[in-house]
Amino acid sequence: SNEHIPKEQGPDHSLSLLQDGYLFIKNRVEQYDSDIFETRILGKKVVCMSGADAVKVFYDPNRFQRKWAAPYRIQQTLFGVGAIQGMDGEAHRKLKNQYLSLMTVPEQKRISELMTQELQSMVSKWELADRIILFEEMKVILCRIACQWAGVPLQEEEVSDIADDLIAMIYAFGRVGPEHWKGRSARNRTENWMKKIIDEVRAGNLTAEPQSALYAMAFYKDHNDQIVHSKKAAIELLNVIRPIVAISTYITFSAVALHENPETKNWLQSGGMKELEMFTNEVRRFYPFGPFLGARVKQDFTWKNYDFKKGTLVLLDIYGLNHNQQIWENPNQFNPNHFNNWEENPYTFIPQGGGDPANGHRCPGEGITIEVLKVSLDFLVNKIDYEVPAQDLNYSLDEMPTLPKSGFIMTKVRRK
Ligand code: HEM
Repeated sequence: SNEHIPKEQGPDHSLSLLQDGYLFIKNRVEQYDSDIFETRILGKKVVCMSGADAVKVFYDPNRFQRKWAAPYRIQQTLFGVGAIQGMDGEAHRKLKNQYLSLMTVPEQKRISELMTQELQSMVSKWELADRIILFEEMKVILCRIACQWAGVPLQEEEVSDIADDLIAMIYAFGRVGPEHWKGRSARNRTENWMKKIIDEVRAGNLTAEPQSALYAMAFYKDHNDQIVHSKKAAIELLNVIRPIVAISTYITFSAVALHENPETKNWLQSGGMKELEMFTNEVRRFYPFGPFLGARVKQDFTWKNYDFKKGTLVLLDIYGLNHNQQIWENPNQFNPNHFNNWEENPYTFIPQGGGDPANGHRCPGEGITIEVLKVSLDFLVNKIDYEVPAQDLNYSLDEMPTLPKSGFIMTKVRRK
């Protein structure tokens, strides 16, 4: 029996989940002094877990599955219905392989070079502007390079609307009402746009480069060697484009980190690649993005004296792990030295998921994220000068995802 495991009293805590946001699991883990507790969300029992041991068990495919884990409202906005995030077994493995083969080290380099070029060519425009909002600029730039990199045709007139839609899909997560509906219509529009392109490629009216993500997804054959429906292909191609645009969130947080920790700017200026990477990892640790992950118990098992029952929804804490005192010294301090001589551990640092990406759901885009962040950071530190006027840089932990309120306003941007 599970009597020794803390249980949150009361019929439903969906509202507290939205209110406490990133801190929902962390606060309760501290309050109960237990890495595992039970609560009720949307009327159902949910088990929440935190800590490195929990990450290990969460990524055991014999114990957990992703099918039926994400609520339908999340599929209708963030992931797409029937997308890779909810797949298991052979079907998942084959598709995941396809993703990973698109995101090799040379491909990470290719996209970060596109990013460098695009940033360089934007400076002239920014020099003429009174002020720019970094987040707004980055989402458009990233949308452009994501499509260019993936081989997806994009007209300059449509970039800004498509970038807004991709961001609306991401920011619908953890929200109800208008922002959820905005995310849903953004997804419908974007899926239609991408499906048309896939159909054109299949019909031979549009050429796709054989190495491109567009080609790979347009002609993707599933584990039964069946070509997938063009809508499914569109959803998966969007699973490449959308998260690249999401990197705008981390670039914005990087600028905040530089501004609030000016000593790191000098340190980066006199450093090299290693320092850029340490800083980038610290941004991914310190600032909130993905709050938690969900999976369902595949078959009954016992772990740490707790009986997991088949079908139970389990949430794994991301934010709390990134701020866990047992893993990080002074976790609430932004300090890139957290990653000095850091032993890469697939279970303690999981801003983009844990375990092995080829054999589980860990993000295949971490390499791309890190490389794009490094060149963006190098650009902010070494390629331009700017001023940061008074503004509201606070971000709230009860909105998921979150962002500094002002989006990071910059004035007097000048090429160095
Ligand atoms: C999965 C975070 C960037 C593509 C994930 C997961 C997280 C995550 C938390 C879920 C891991 C799990 O379920 O175990 C992020 C963050 C990013 C980012 C914070 C920074 C902006 C990217 C990029 C790409 C990408 C750049 C592609 C170019 C994917 C895909 C999955 C995924 C396809 C699903 C993998 C699967 O279900 O097997 N990401 N990601 N992500 N990410 Fe990312």
